[in-house]
Amino acid sequence: MTHTIVLLPGDGIGPEVAQAARAVLEKAGAAHGLPLEFSSHDIGGCAIDAHGDPFPDATAEACVEADAVFLGAVGGPKWDAGGPRPEAGLLALRRALGAFANLRPITLFPGLEHLSPLKAERASGTDMLIVRELTGGIYFGDKVEGDENASDLCSYSRQEVERIARIAFDAARGRSRRVTSVDKANVLATSRLWRNTVIALRDADYPDIELDHVLVDAMAMKLIERPAAFDVVLTENMFGDILSDEASVIAGSIGLAPSASLSQTHGGLYEPIHGSAPDIAGQGKANPVGAMLSAAMLLRHALGQEDAAVTIEGAIAACLSDGIGTGDIGGSASTHEVISAVCERISA
Ligand code: NAD
Ligand code: IPM
Ligand code: MN
Repeated sequence: MTHTIVLLPGDGIGPEVAQAARAVLEKAGAAHGLPLEFSSHDIGGCAIDAHGDPFPDATAEACVEADAVFLGAVGGPKWDAGGPRPEAGLLALRRALGAFANLRPITLFPGLEHLSPLKAERASGTDMLIVRELTGGIYFGDKVEGDENASDLCSYSRQEVERIARIAFDAARGRSRRVTSVDKANVLATSRLWRNTVIALRDADYPDIELDHVLVDAMAMKLIERPAAFDVVLTENMFGDILSDEASVIAGSIGLAPSASLSQTHGGLYEPIHGSAPDIAGQGKANPVGAMLSAAMLLRHALGQEDAAVTIEGAIAACLSDGIGTGDIGGSASTHEVISAVCERISA
């Protein structure tokens, strides 16, 4: 049966990295005999320009019907001056897919400790999975926009916290059985509900998991101090957004970091964690690895194709250990050269 994949290239470097994802999916699909069918749709700033809407109905329909959705990135200075925002399209997409569980693995490739801005002995062994709640919290609460006063409501229900915590505990069972829950329970009511809910779920259903709690400000420090100490990091929407950009750099560059946003009703959304990088767009400088690793996560989580996912991950690891990379990781290759090098290693 043919698997349908919707590509949403978006803005800035989005199209450059979406091309990378498609290339490795086609190559790994052919190598593993998977019939994949692609269609591309507008989202974000390019959709505002073409349709006056960052998330047009045609895009929404294609996404909810697809087996999986890959997104490059949205946004840029062109749309910052007022009017509809590209980012609203991405938030609407996550909501439409029910993509509440954002998995952001941060792994320092062994042998590539020199890519980290941290001392090698400190960065060495970094291998964590950030589990970020993606469809609740301050991103989706009522907003008041104003010139003198503005507000963003942060709210969570017990049910929303419990379902994302379950994802984190289940993931920990396949790893080192340790979960660090990050909150701001000394100040925020939502964080106290978060902490109580996570503790109750662990006690009831996951007594085999070691659970600890770290306040988000201290977590920002500890990630730099001892990144290798963390296994699964469970946190709410905005804290997860911030901490995952921080953690990505420990492994070398934000351009290396992938994500999967899982849903109970759809095949999920797959996107690198970086943005549209307007400063390097169109110059062949974008690191395509985060996008290609997201494509591997798509094969694993949406299509159940573990072997094909491992093929892509292995090809990427081989390129990185051969020193093939873009400028953000100290290499001299262009986006296209990295894509070609990875694809060559997939057919090998
Ligand atoms: P960004 O992630 O786009 O860029 C931050 C820095 O990282 C820049 O210096 C950029 O050049 C670099 N960088 C990012 N991706 C890279 C890659 N693949 N290879 C090499 N270097 C890379 O964050 P920003 O500059 O804060 O945001 C730019 C725009 O992107 C904003 O409009 C923002 O809203 C949007 N954004 C979108 C997404 C998304 O679509 N998922 C995520 C984050 C930001
Ligand atoms: C991300 C981005 C988005 C987020 C923005 C663009 C809405 O920063 O995917 O990390 O904050 O979730
Ligand atoms: Mn972000």
